[in-house]
Amino acid sequence: MRHLVTLFDITTDEINRIFAIADDLKTKYKQGLREAILPGRVLGLLFEKPSLRTRVSFECGMAHLGGSSLFLGEDVGWGKRESPSDFTRVLSQYVDVIVCRAKSHARVEELAKYATCPIINGLTDYSHPCQALADLYTLREENGTLDGQCLAYIGDANNVARSLALASARLGVQFAIAAPQGYQFDDAFLKKVEKECGTSTVTTTNDPAQAVSSANAVYTDVWASMGQEAERDKRQKDFAAFQVNEQLMQQAPNDAIFLHCLPARRGEEVTDGVMDSANSRIVEQAANRMHVQKAVIAWLLGVSGK
Ligand code: CP
Ligand code: NVA
Repeated sequence: MRHLVTLFDITTDEINRIFAIADDLKTKYKQGLREAILPGRVLGLLFEKPSLRTRVSFECGMAHLGGSSLFLGEDVGWGKRESPSDFTRVLSQYVDVIVCRAKSHARVEELAKYATCPIINGLTDYSHPCQALADLYTLREENGTLDGQCLAYIGDANNVARSLALASARLGVQFAIAAPQGYQFDDAFLKKVEKECGTSTVTTTNDPAQAVSSANAVYTDVWASMGQEAERDKRQKDFAAFQVNEQLMQQAPNDAIFLHCLPARRGEEVTDGVMDSANSRIVEQAANRMHVQKAVIAWLLGVSGK
């Protein structure tokens, strides 16, 4: 049984296959075609944290593919009413694929252990693989290739940053992260990612201007992620020099695009001027969540239109 819990679960060839399916589905979608390749299939969405993009893009994507989805909130009692193995083995009898958003990564690993249908990670504190796939798909669309492209991430080495670093390693993208001391990747993670690097590299600095100097895309995310609300004041001080603003974008090549996974805290990690600039691709990036995730589902279920 294949799952997408982190990007360590899939190979570079498989990512490229997912992108090819996404290309096909997106082209048809733009032509007004909704190819019903998953009739009667059901997607279960098991969410412990709020979501706009992940939930809605998966639900709409599944509808386009001719299937349906079930949003499973608190009332199903995940981790509360019965043992994880009973819960997961039973749920797997009803639905064909599960997307879950969990407070801890271990909860998703536990689901994958017991599930008899594919599990897709829709964000944990550790990783956000669907986000990173859509982000690199967006960069690929922008420049026609990913080979040798440079992605600069400014901010916390969080779930999104980990997935972006790994996706970049897999796809030949140079990844540079600028973060304050204490908020950078830990050595164990860096070593794991470096093993996945072919032609690409992961570099760490505490100088945002250096990170963006040869970037094709400049990326940021919130300084305090969901679950870190108590650290918000401290993080605002610690990250004050890491805002993506017009001055920082001037240090990047003129055609560097701006990306953000959203939701953003405008005026904190990024200014309105950058979010709404001609180089901003935040809306296209969010739209690509749907196209790429449709491809992930089709690939995991072994059904693709092409
Ligand atoms: N980027 C992202 O995952 O957004 P949501 O939290 O709204 O799903
Ligand atoms: N790092 C953010 C991403 C939200 C999509 C969080 O976990 O809250």
